[in-house]
Amino acid sequence: MHVLAEQPLLRMNTLALDGRARALLRLEHITGLEQALGWAADRQLPVVPLGEGSNIVVAGDVEALVLRLATSGIEVLEEDAEKVHLRVAAGENWHRLVEWTLRRGYFGLENLALIPGTVGAAPVQNIGAYGVELASFVRAVHSVELATGAGLSLSREACEFGYRDSVFKNRLRDKMIITSVELELSREPHLQFEYPALAAVLEGKQRARLSAIDVFDAVVAIRRSKLPDPARVPNAGSFFKNPVVDAQRAGALAGQFPGIPQYPQADGQVKLAAAWLIDCCGWKGKQRGGFGVHPEHALVLVNLGGGSGRELLDLAADIAASVATTFGVSLEIEPRIVGG
Ligand code: EPU
Repeated sequence: MHVLAEQPLLRMNTLALDGRARALLRLEHITGLEQALGWAADRQLPVVPLGEGSNIVVAGDVEALVLRLATSGIEVLEEDAEKVHLRVAAGENWHRLVEWTLRRGYFGLENLALIPGTVGAAPVQNIGAYGVELASFVRAVHSVELATGAGLSLSREACEFGYRDSVFKNRLRDKMIITSVELELSREPHLQFEYPALAAVLEGKQRARLSAIDVFDAVVAIRRSKLPDPARVPNAGSFFKNPVVDAQRAGALAGQFPGIPQYPQADGQVKLAAAWLIDCCGWKGKQRGGFGVHPEHALVLVNLGGGSGRELLDLAADIAASVATTFGVSLEIEPRIVGG
């Protein structure tokens, strides 16, 4: 076991925020997990699991053992003419998994192409895009309790998935490390292309002739056109969740702000577009200190260089305050805040 002391996290988070980890361990084999948790317990250090750091805000130094999970492996557990059942190690890159499944003729994940991060991080916030959420494919999530090393496997129901939400953000928050995810995919494509931006790109193509690869390519093209590549412009994707309000509130907002996008949910509530609200308040393209609101997408905050995580959170607080003043709607930060 090779624990490194006092390590900079700058290259380990896609927002490229500076901060130091008291201790850092890269784990390539899950067999080393028990020893790593014991090492931290002996020193009374908390453990902070980290994947590719694509959904975190490093708000300062992290007084913990940061466990960079880099395990690999995709296993076919069962396969028949209709379905395939996979177990994927938490450290696998999400987008590479999507490509692998499509090459093998396993369908379902095509709308989730190009989402940064690891497979283990995906269930925490129930990654979703272009009308599809991870939750529909999860059979089980395997995890280990950080404090005790005890294994805990959760069925899809036990994961309590919601919009950008799961039990790992609530009751089990900061308590578990996800070690692998079981997915059930289809051997037959069931394409989903109703999401307006996706339907627009695929317009003119014959619906009956569309393949999962066409949907994958369209999603990749949309993401590349709207969302900055974290490798070039540091960011963590959407910085806020889309707020959900009750129908009465949504009706009042529609009366007051014609054209406000509204997405009715199955439970009668209405999801609003945080990007639209932020855009309306004039933030798009604005820069402050080392940070900016992306000129192509108002929901993405980018690191232009030199700023701290604290300054980024101050900017986010000001954006949320102006949305609250104008619309009476509160915005919730989406990425996980660590350190500080
Ligand atoms: N819009 C604006 N101004 C902008 C950008 C968008 O008014 O600068 C409007 C658009 O016109 C559209 C609406 O806002 O009517 C929604 O925009 P978009 O389709 O880009 O989706 P989003 O709600 O902003 C969500 C996810 C994304 C995901 C896309 C596609 C959240 C927090 N974000 O964004 O996920 O890729 O839908 O499904 O739910 C992420 O989580 O990091 C992420 C990128």
